[in-house]
Amino acid sequence: MPPSADSGDRERELETLLSQALEALAQAKDSAALEEVRIKFLGRKGTLTAQFEHLRSNALGAEEKARFGRKLNDAKRRIEEALQQKRREGGSSAPHASNAPDLTLPGRLPEAGRLHPVTQTIDEITSIFRSIGFSVVDGPELETDHNNFTALNFPADHPSRDGFDTFYLAKDPPRWSEDGTPLLLRTHTSPVQIRFMKRRKPPFMIIVPGRVFRRDAVDAAHCFQFHQVEGLTVGPGINFGDLKGVLDFWTKRMFGPSSRLRFRPHYFPFTEPSAEADLSCVFCNAQGCRVCGQKGWLEMLGCGMVHPNVFKAVGYPPGTTGFAFGMGVERIAMFRYGIEDIRHFFENDVRLLSQFP
Ligand code: PHE
Repeated sequence: MPPSADSGDRERELETLLSQALEALAQAKDSAALEEVRIKFLGRKGTLTAQFEHLRSNALGAEEKARFGRKLNDAKRRIEEALQQKRREGGSSAPHASNAPDLTLPGRLPEAGRLHPVTQTIDEITSIFRSIGFSVVDGPELETDHNNFTALNFPADHPSRDGFDTFYLAKDPPRWSEDGTPLLLRTHTSPVQIRFMKRRKPPFMIIVPGRVFRRDAVDAAHCFQFHQVEGLTVGPGINFGDLKGVLDFWTKRMFGPSSRLRFRPHYFPFTEPSAEADLSCVFCNAQGCRVCGQKGWLEMLGCGMVHPNVFKAVGYPPGTTGFAFGMGVERIAMFRYGIEDIRHFFENDVRLLSQFP
């Protein structure tokens, strides 16, 4: 028996239902939308479910029933497959919208680290001294009063100690060093001279970069922490001319061949004679400008011949000779890079740090 006109309508209706269901699934953006589609077509009161009820109602002839039943089951299977497929994809209509990487996106570059401008300046300073035979040495930031002051010829209760506003470690509970003197944060890198000389016999040439601490009020030119580079040479017959020669060589390498040093008499307990050295202003070539306060010179470092009392404190024989010098790293970096405030070095602001590749 050929299919009735009525069954032709029913089959077209089924095809429409099927394409509506597949279209709705394709559009569904998330699992909630998928569930909605499922209920609409396959739920207890769904449109496809209604067709199954019609099939069971015995309104159709046996042949027609078998034929329509096949079509109906086929439609249900296709909708269920499409639903499964969409669920695996995560509910979105985009073909790879799940967690799969989108290879067409531009890559993310890793942040490249770089050296802090203070570290870069220390490296430059020390590499010049290393090129003429100095070795790099370091020492602890936590020091004893003995190494930081007494052994460097600062007599106890001498006013020269007041020049260094010192951070002492809390005395309650007491934290005294093995040598019985208070512990402190070193105020300069010079105590490393003492540590090194206690261990080693001359001759030697060392350079000591490191962080130091002073209880200074913080402003554009002062900070409670900064860095120094200390130099020390000890050997037979060393004189002030050697000191000037070494520092002059370093200055010309560091700041260019036309730069000069000027030595002024000064006082340090651990050197005698002592001097402060000024650098010809790198901004105006010693002509006078705003940075050097129209003087033409920038205060640069302290230096001198090592005081005999310092050699005595470390057990070296009388007649030992040597020179020492010490310079502030931030000051030099400020001159070199035109940074006007020392606080910039310690604020960790990447806008400053990223300017030093
Ligand atoms: N330690 C001195 C300071 O901090 C600098 C210095 C070092 C001077 C070595 C002379 C010799 O001011």
